[in-house]
Amino acid sequence: TLTRREDYVAPSHWIRSVDLTFELEPAKTLVISRMQVEPNADRPGEPLRLDGEDITLTRVLVNGNSVSFHFDAGQLVLEKLPAEPFALEIRNTCAPGKNTQLSGLYTSGGGFFTQCEAQGFRRITYFADRPDVMAVFKVTLRADAKLYPMLLSNGNLVESGELPKGRHYAVWSDPHPKPSYLFALVAADLVCREQKIRTRSGQDHTLQVYVRAGDLDKTEHAMNSLIASIAWDEARFGLKLDLERFMIVAVSDFNMGAMENKGLNIFNTKFVLASPATATDIDFGNVESVVGHEYFHNWTGNRITCRDWFQLSLKEGLTVYRDQEFSQDMAGVASARAVKRIEDVRQLRQSQYPEDAGPMAHPVRPDQYQAIDNFYTATVYDKGAEVVRMMATLVGRAGFRKGMDLYFARHDGQAVTCDDFAQAIADANHGSALAERLDTFKHWYAQAGTPRLKAEGSFDADTGRYTLTLSQHTPATPGQPLKQPFVIPVAMGLLDAAGQPITGTDRVLVLDTASQSWTFDGLTAAPVPSLLRGFSAPVILEWDASEAELFTLLGHDTDAFNRWEAGQRLAVQRLLAAVRQGGDLVLDEAFVSALRSVLNDPALDAAFKELVLTLPSEGYLAERMAEAGEPIDPQKIHAARESMRAQLARSLHADWVTAWEQNSQTGGYRPDPVSCGRRALANLALNMLVLDGVAHGEPLWQGKALQRFKDAGNMTDRLGALAALVHGRSSLAGAALERFHAMFSGEALVIDKWFALQATAPEQDGQVFAQIKVLARHPDYSLRNPNRARSLLLTMTQLNPGAFHRADGAGYAFWADKVQEVDGFNPQLASRMARALDRWRALAEPFRSHARTAIERIAAKTDLSGDTREIVTRALAD
Ligand code: ARG
Ligand code: ZN
Repeated sequence: TLTRREDYVAPSHWIRSVDLTFELEPAKTLVISRMQVEPNADRPGEPLRLDGEDITLTRVLVNGNSVSFHFDAGQLVLEKLPAEPFALEIRNTCAPGKNTQLSGLYTSGGGFFTQCEAQGFRRITYFADRPDVMAVFKVTLRADAKLYPMLLSNGNLVESGELPKGRHYAVWSDPHPKPSYLFALVAADLVCREQKIRTRSGQDHTLQVYVRAGDLDKTEHAMNSLIASIAWDEARFGLKLDLERFMIVAVSDFNMGAMENKGLNIFNTKFVLASPATATDIDFGNVESVVGHEYFHNWTGNRITCRDWFQLSLKEGLTVYRDQEFSQDMAGVASARAVKRIEDVRQLRQSQYPEDAGPMAHPVRPDQYQAIDNFYTATVYDKGAEVVRMMATLVGRAGFRKGMDLYFARHDGQAVTCDDFAQAIADANHGSALAERLDTFKHWYAQAGTPRLKAEGSFDADTGRYTLTLSQHTPATPGQPLKQPFVIPVAMGLLDAAGQPITGTDRVLVLDTASQSWTFDGLTAAPVPSLLRGFSAPVILEWDASEAELFTLLGHDTDAFNRWEAGQRLAVQRLLAAVRQGGDLVLDEAFVSALRSVLNDPALDAAFKELVLTLPSEGYLAERMAEAGEPIDPQKIHAARESMRAQLARSLHADWVTAWEQNSQTGGYRPDPVSCGRRALANLALNMLVLDGVAHGEPLWQGKALQRFKDAGNMTDRLGALAALVHGRSSLAGAALERFHAMFSGEALVIDKWFALQATAPEQDGQVFAQIKVLARHPDYSLRNPNRARSLLLTMTQLNPGAFHRADGAGYAFWADKVQEVDGFNPQLASRMARALDRWRALAEPFRSHARTAIERIAAKTDLSGDTREIVTRALAD
């Protein structure tokens, strides 16, 4: 059944407080819920409808008396209720040990955990499970004392003690009213790292990170990240921690990354645990940003929450923007900030652009859904963050802070909409570029699809005038054939032919109509425009740059993002030309020497060099082809890209050796931007040197990689060396993989890496796919644990098109089998996996036909979950 944004109605009743008691047992947990309910004066006489799913009702009392009730469309309906506030008591049971969906109350590793966003609370007890019903929660947990020594819930611990029969209890109280999706409980055998802090404003807090006993030595980074997050939010936005105690709990079975439950964040272990020996630099960065993200939700999400789930980006887009800014501020210097920005944009283009071009395209604020869990998307999160970023660009940094202040002044404690947020930012900035065109700006919330921004420059030598014309066009998306213009901030500047910036030309142009021109006077020669600096809007820039212009930008632009972007464009043009010709790719000296200059430039950071020297992904190339209206042939793209990699490995050989020598020794492990950048570049160099060595039968660098693999002092270097061997198809790879597996057999997150690494190996003659199928039967492999399931399957479908897209369709058939299997016990995970072929219509034959067959096979499963059903139905709709 479809839920529509326009159908929103306020709740018939408010639930002001909830007193929950849990008698925790895996097979049958008893839940007693005592609520204070208040009829909504705007909707008198309406029945109270409470959500419930997979739970068993045993009692309903209103003001202590039994009442009549019935069930309708999965809801418990209570009629003839008092017109005055009343007490409602509900008793029910649930079965956490059988909850394989990992939504609601479930068991993992012998403990109890919850995940309630978006609609998991109804799997615990009957409730008005919608974010605009906010209640004060008191929670009593009762459980076996030996098996579950830690009993945690939101807020403050008010009481605890022993009970008969080896049980114990704890009572928690959360003073902040909250929607049910922010409820959490944990009952498990855990240990914690604790730190007391005093903030800038002089308040004392206790911070705790809870993990399983063996993992305590991997919690320091998460704790430091939390401390940094608290300080950052206070310094940058004036937002203080509003709880005496703040807890993070790690759990190894978790569908998502993490969850911002009030005062009790629950995290996938992947985003908490980090030690130099087991986690890579990327993991360290992810821990920092996810810890920040969940902490920042305390204000943007929890204090001010969403009125309904269509407003999800109100909290997610804003909180992603905040975590991106936090990571940039943590990175410090401008060059490191630019690296983070490039990584974020790469991610947006890799996941959100295809979403916007496919059957799941939806606005940042969607209009309808079948399963809300399907809308925790790159569009809501990452494009939503870009929309917030554009607002910040249009009102300036100080203006954005004023807007945030007004947003909190107006809406603290409320459940509001994306309109309320945009209005607050605009109202705090009268006369700003945003306030003047707020209605047009809000098309970003309402219209799906990635706008095309066309740029055309012309120079008149007689007058010395340069005219830049920008125009926009957005292709149709499902249900939205025609699009209104967007407000597109275009940060730009002009360079002269030698690449020097032309003074006085840097500015932000604001395009808010179909087409508009700007002029620049007093120029002596045709300039080189640097457009969309810092990726100032989530659009596709259609600019017919000459090779010379791109080389100038790559070599000289003051904007690091556009330097990188120019390099990517040069690579894309060459790769796509090779794909179109179906012939060999022969790299020109101009391109090679431009890359060589970057690689050897002592003024550039290693991290930036690594980004420039990394070729655009196969997925990104596929989208560029689709945009040009050409059918995607993943195998041709794979072949062209592999050919370019091999040639860069060969022609830059000496430069790779230098890069390795200069960057391979980073000393004692520290995950700071400079050492992370050096390790990244050293690993890329090693990868290229091994690739070249294998191609030419030279053992030197394979031996060096093996030595590095054995001697490495941290996981980044060890995995980098192993990746060089595996991805380079060295004969030394097999033994190294075995050794790695043996070394880390007790470390689940490292074994995930072991699977993922093999799933990303460049395909050749079907060997990688064959190996993936073998690995799917490995005793360590399991679909039940989401991280493990993803390590092989999502890694293959998302990151290894060469292995997945086979001319015989076997990759798709394998995928369809696994989606069906997972759908039987974890619909959320299955529907994520089911999105792998969203872009099937853009594929060339025979891929397209095979893909349709595979999707149809999933759709034919009669008991398919609603989550997966929505995905395949949209994929197959015309
Ligand atoms: N709010 C969480 C976060 O972004 C994610 C929760 C996802 N839940 C879901 N059912 N998809 O931090
Ligand atoms: Zn979030």
